[in-house]
Amino acid sequence: MAQHILTAVAWPYANGPRHIGHVSGFGVPSDIFSRYQRMAGNEVLMVSGTDEHGTPIQVQADKEGMTARELADRYNRVIVEDLTALGLSYDLFTRTTTQNHYAVVQEIFKGLYDNGYVFPTTTMGAISPSTGRTLPDRYIEGTCPICGYDGARGDQCDNCGNQLDPIDLINPKSRINGETPKFVETEHFMLDLPAFAEALGSFLQSKQGEWRPNVLKFSLNLLDDLQPRAITRDLDWGVPIPLDGWRDRPDKRMYVWFDAVIGYLSASVEWARRSGDPDAWRKWWQNPDARSYYFMGKDNIVFHSEIWPAILLGYNGKGARGGRPGSLGELNLPSEVVSSEFLTMEGRKFSSSRQVVIYVRDFLSRYDADALRYYIAVAGPETQDTDFTWSEFVNRNNGELVAAWGNLVNRSIAMAAKNFGAIPEPGDLTDADRALLERSRAAFAKVGGELSRSRFKNAVTEAFDVVREANRYLAEQEPWKLKDDRDRQRSILYVALQVVDDAKTMLTPFLPNSSNKVYAMLGGEGVWSGMPEIHEVDEEGGRAYPVITGSYAQGVARWEHRPIRPGTPLAPPTPLFKKLDPKVVDEELARLGG
Ligand code: MF3
Ligand code: ZN
Repeated sequence: MAQHILTAVAWPYANGPRHIGHVSGFGVPSDIFSRYQRMAGNEVLMVSGTDEHGTPIQVQADKEGMTARELADRYNRVIVEDLTALGLSYDLFTRTTTQNHYAVVQEIFKGLYDNGYVFPTTTMGAISPSTGRTLPDRYIEGTCPICGYDGARGDQCDNCGNQLDPIDLINPKSRINGETPKFVETEHFMLDLPAFAEALGSFLQSKQGEWRPNVLKFSLNLLDDLQPRAITRDLDWGVPIPLDGWRDRPDKRMYVWFDAVIGYLSASVEWARRSGDPDAWRKWWQNPDARSYYFMGKDNIVFHSEIWPAILLGYNGKGARGGRPGSLGELNLPSEVVSSEFLTMEGRKFSSSRQVVIYVRDFLSRYDADALRYYIAVAGPETQDTDFTWSEFVNRNNGELVAAWGNLVNRSIAMAAKNFGAIPEPGDLTDADRALLERSRAAFAKVGGELSRSRFKNAVTEAFDVVREANRYLAEQEPWKLKDDRDRQRSILYVALQVVDDAKTMLTPFLPNSSNKVYAMLGGEGVWSGMPEIHEVDEEGGRAYPVITGSYAQGVARWEHRPIRPGTPLAPPTPLFKKLDPKVVDEELARLGG
């Protein structure tokens, strides 16, 4: 039975171009997962967009001398282009500044308010003594009152993971100009997180053995200290608060994280409307059998395993205060929060200001998308922090993509094309032939099992074992020496081509571009695995903006062994991957800031 699978991908901030550390967390893993699920016959809805509100955008806009909206427009387009170039198969990649998003966020806020999970309070907010302007939490830095780490931000300590209030920081300083902030009274709405302690506890406990252990452990720890959390800010850039006396205030907006997580829902609603069936989103959000997987880097865990579930529970009326579902109806909680760890760059933290960075766009101007996707899958920060090095990138590209997989494809097709002009008809198969065919067929279940549990490294390694096995088989059988035994040569090349076909299927989620090429080389017709497209869309009475979408269901890729057809004409192949000159390592290192 086809399952409805929501792939909910973290929303990148539209405050600059994205680098490869970003896409190793949310981007490539979510796409590998979605492509696999579609191939397995499930109905996938993969949504995201640019995160365009809040202080990260406002501060960068100030720096670049433009308005927040202008900045968001600029980087929304850059990010849309980069994620498309990487082949990420979003059903809809939109943005948080749409009217639809505002309406859905306000509906959720009202639902929480009506059920009693949102209440007003007076808190102490920081202002800059020199400008009189509000100083956003994350632009205050100081010593963590819990663990003593001296680089804690006003909203969160990256060392111990605790959420903080800037007023509790020891020795607080503005990250903008170093001055000591002044704290003054200000009115805000709070989300009553303690009212969800029990519901969140049983939600998380039920994920034991299912989620990555580090993600679950981190999430469970958060429950030890649930405090009400402000979901509004002193800011003029964001979603207005939909209550009388607040709606028209220019200085109060929703907290960016509150609006952003609701994006998963609003993007699903927008996708449904654009598909011509406005209620279609309900199949992923209200069907109890639907599953939802949220992909992100680890600094986002708290918002997806605690705050977003709390918002959903409150809207559903399922916290300690009870209540009933709002007008959208009861909504599904996340099935799994799939978080990556961090990627570093040549031993250092990514940093745009210190040029310890490579942007997706620059990477793809020099190397292929599949080469980056492969590196992230096989050597990315799946369950622990990992380091990107240019020498490992070049080694894996040349040794694994070019020498192992590319070479297997190339020599099998080239020999068959040259000697027979077509996929040859096999004669009697030997034990060695049957063993390899069997090995390759059996890999579908193994690799698929790993992919369905988001264990990408195991999955790609298992698929590559088949490739290595096939190369060993060719080295042993030496079909190139069998000019006088055409029958045997035909059988060997038939077996090799069948395994090439199987392997290209299993590698499709990781390497969609090159798998599409192998599909065509083996005589396949039409689209194998669909690629994303940029569409310019209009908003009713609003602006035009670019979205990423695609008709992935038209692709014929299925997660199964497909018998190749002897007699299918074969042309001499073209190389699948580019071999990299080892000197690119030094060139790239020279581009990094010292
Ligand atoms: N913009 C955030 C970041 O880059 C991620 C937001 S994910 C969301 O860290 F969906 F919750 F918005
Ligand atoms: Zn700390």
